[in-house]
Amino acid sequence: MAETIPDLRGIPKARAYEELQGHCNAILDGVSDPIAAMATIAALIHHAFGQLWTGFYRVVEPGQLLRVGPYQGSLGCLDITFGRGVCGTAAAEMKTLIVPDVEKFPGHITCDARSRSEIVVPVIGTRGDLIAVLDVDSDQLDAFNDEDQQGLERLVSWFRTMRQ
Ligand code: SME
Repeated sequence: MAETIPDLRGIPKARAYEELQGHCNAILDGVSDPIAAMATIAALIHHAFGQLWTGFYRVVEPGQLLRVGPYQGSLGCLDITFGRGVCGTAAAEMKTLIVPDVEKFPGHITCDARSRSEIVVPVIGTRGDLIAVLDVDSDQLDAFNDEDQQGLERLVSWFRTMRQ
């Protein structure tokens, strides 16, 4: 395999996500291992957009506990309880959260003091259950919008239909 990760900074987001989706589909064709897919998707997003932190927190105790999974960036915290921080809240509510200013989010978990804004997207598995959340953190305020939500939700929809 000779796929390279495109640098998609500076092109319109909708087009960037379209291109990323193409790479993702090509690389994950025939893959049936969710951890391998998480590692691949985290690397693709992280390097395409040059974010501070991009990665997955996996559900290890349904409704209770998230644990760090494949990621790129500075050190992430290991365990997050459902309901805590942005990741834990997105997991508990099973919905995407866009936080334009992390300092204004009560209970935000600071793993990297440079983090200013973030988006967290639930990852649903083949049984329709929550298997993880995807967390992307930026060192810029207000870095994420609806286009990121749509693009990232579409990328992680791979896990819902993955071959087993
Ligand atoms: N920002 C997250 C914590 C995880 S790390 O920053 C990698 C949160 O508040 O859920």
